[in-house]
Amino acid sequence: MKAMSFAETGGPEVLHLVDVPQPHAGPGQIRIAVRAAGVNPVDWKIRNGSTLRTIPVPLPHIPGLEAAGVVDEVGAGVEGVSVGDEVFGAAQNASAEYAVLDEWAPKPPQLTWAQAAGLAMAVETAARGLDLLGITAGEESGAGLELGAGQESAAGSESAGTTLLVNGAAGGVGLAAVQLAQARGARVIGTASRDNQEYLRSLGAAATDYGPGLVDRVRSLAPDGVDAALAVSGAGALPDLITLTGSPDRVVSIGDVTAAEHGVRFTTGAEGRAFYSLREAATLAAAGRLTMPVARALPLAELGEAHRISEAGHVRGKLVVVLD
Ligand SMILES: NC(=O)c1ccc[n+]([C@@H]2O[C@H](COP(=O)([O-])OP(=O)(O)OC[C@H]3O[C@@H](n4cnc5c(N)ncnc54)[C@H](OP(=O)(O)O)[C@@H]3O)[C@@H](O)[C@H]2O)c1
Repeated sequence: MKAMSFAETGGPEVLHLVDVPQPHAGPGQIRIAVRAAGVNPVDWKIRNGSTLRTIPVPLPHIPGLEAAGVVDEVGAGVEGVSVGDEVFGAAQNASAEYAVLDEWAPKPPQLTWAQAAGLAMAVETAARGLDLLGITAGEESGAGLELGAGQESAAGSESAGTTLLVNGAAGGVGLAAVQLAQARGARVIGTASRDNQEYLRSLGAAATDYGPGLVDRVRSLAPDGVDAALAVSGAGALPDLITLTGSPDRVVSIGDVTAAEHGVRFTTGAEGRAFYSLREAATLAAAGRLTMPVARALPLAELGEAHRISEAGHVRGKLVVVLD
């Protein structure tokens, strides 16, 4: 099969289209014919070698941690999914014609392949951060349960009335956090560059600039205070997030690695993943309450260009590569 791969770490130019043997679904896994694969910042951090110590990968390596496609192999012990089903989920080596998924959910028909391909990492990370902040999915919005349209379930949730600040709300994880938190009953303020603030408002969040003066700007949007903050993107904001929430315990970081210096919890997923949220996201998307904008969808062979765009740091939603 065709795949994008690198044999040595370096710039985007180390990525090449190669022919490799197809992978097969092991026990508990499924294989999909990939229709689109998501691109994440960690992909280029692995490719350029900066995460070699923390995330060692054998070379050559096919990047890609998520994809959407059509099931064509079902591993031993897997129930509830069949060959021909359309799914999205978490993978290893997803930038290829076929990929093995470890975690998946049905692809909502409302989402394109490209939109669905970029959901898994963003949603899992966002849900993990929200869970740690106590903005949890009540039974009404939990995995596998049918949601009606509107905010009825949110109003009944234990997170109702919570005000959450998402710093770096316009990227994949940020937009997933905004939408999941709202579905879980929270009021959300997101920070983004000017170009992305109107989009956040269109999702129902309040929006403001990140950077100096954040505390005053957020206080004017939330005079009654902020209960919790998720630090998604942007270094140096943690002191402001602590000031706004009143305690480092009310802040969780997924992107600012200086978290420990501030007494803030940094989640990597090593402590457990929130993959139940793929089904929560699928249910919300099917009800028209969650989406993921695709900043660019590029052909598989242009994965290097997708890495370049991601590395520049201002993607709205997700970058994906698509297969014919
Ligand atoms: N710890 C974990 O488990 C985990 C999991 C997934 C991702 N991550 C990390 O989390 C970070 C975000 O991931 P992602 O997938 O959401 O990235 P992404 O989709 O590339 O989004 C990046 C976003 O950052 C925003 N941004 C840029 N500069 C900023 C600043 N100074 N302050 C606030 N926001 C800023 C941009 O918004 P504008 O365009 O509006 O500027 C852009 O939308 C990455 O560092 C990634 O490696 C960690």
